[in-house]
Amino acid sequence: MLEDFLIILNNLYDTERLGVAIGKISQVGDCICLNGNLGAGKTTLAQAIALGLEVPPHCYVTSPSFVMMHEYSGRIPLYHMDFYRLYDSGDIIDLGFEEYFYLDGLTVIEWSERATDILPEGRLAIEIKQKGEEQRSVHFFTENEALARRYRKMLFNFRKTI
Ligand SMILES: Nc1ncnc2c1ncn2[C@@H]1O[C@H](COP(=O)(O)OP(=O)(O)OP(=O)(O)O)[C@@H](O)[C@H]1O
Ligand SMILES: [Mg+2]
Repeated sequence: MLEDFLIILNNLYDTERLGVAIGKISQVGDCICLNGNLGAGKTTLAQAIALGLEVPPHCYVTSPSFVMMHEYSGRIPLYHMDFYRLYDSGDIIDLGFEEYFYLDGLTVIEWSERATDILPEGRLAIEIKQKGEEQRSVHFFTENEALARRYRKMLFNFRKTI
């Protein structure tokens, strides 16, 4: 089953609320791939996902651009990766990141398109597009039936709050 959802966010606050909602429904083994241009809001969304996962506020989630991976303790572990500075999936395998996809936490990957061939099949792809200064379109895509069901319900409720 292929599932495809679109949501329009009007401001930064909407993005933060969406991230928190994603964090709250995330489960062990989920993999969220965040794509979109520089400054689209991938790290901003990841920070809010961390909040929703109950990562303590003093462990502020920053962009892992230079170290490529940060690990945080929340309700479940959060592995926040950024593939921007990597060339292809060979780099990711060399760094040992593939193993994290199958551990006991949530993996969130910025610029995952660098390595589509090694990403877990049941992943959720989120594409963020800048529409205005603060407006963003957010496109969700998954082939995982259970994940689609979870997100369909969450997004249905979230839309009512925008
Ligand atoms: N609705 C919105 N959602 C997300 N970010 C927003 C929104 N409106 C404004 N912004 C601003 O846009 C910027 C997004 O930056 P962010 O670092 O999250 O982007 P990014 O996609 O991670 O970029 P990069 O590819 O460089 O990692 C921030 O300065 C944020 O405050
Ligand atoms: Mg970023």
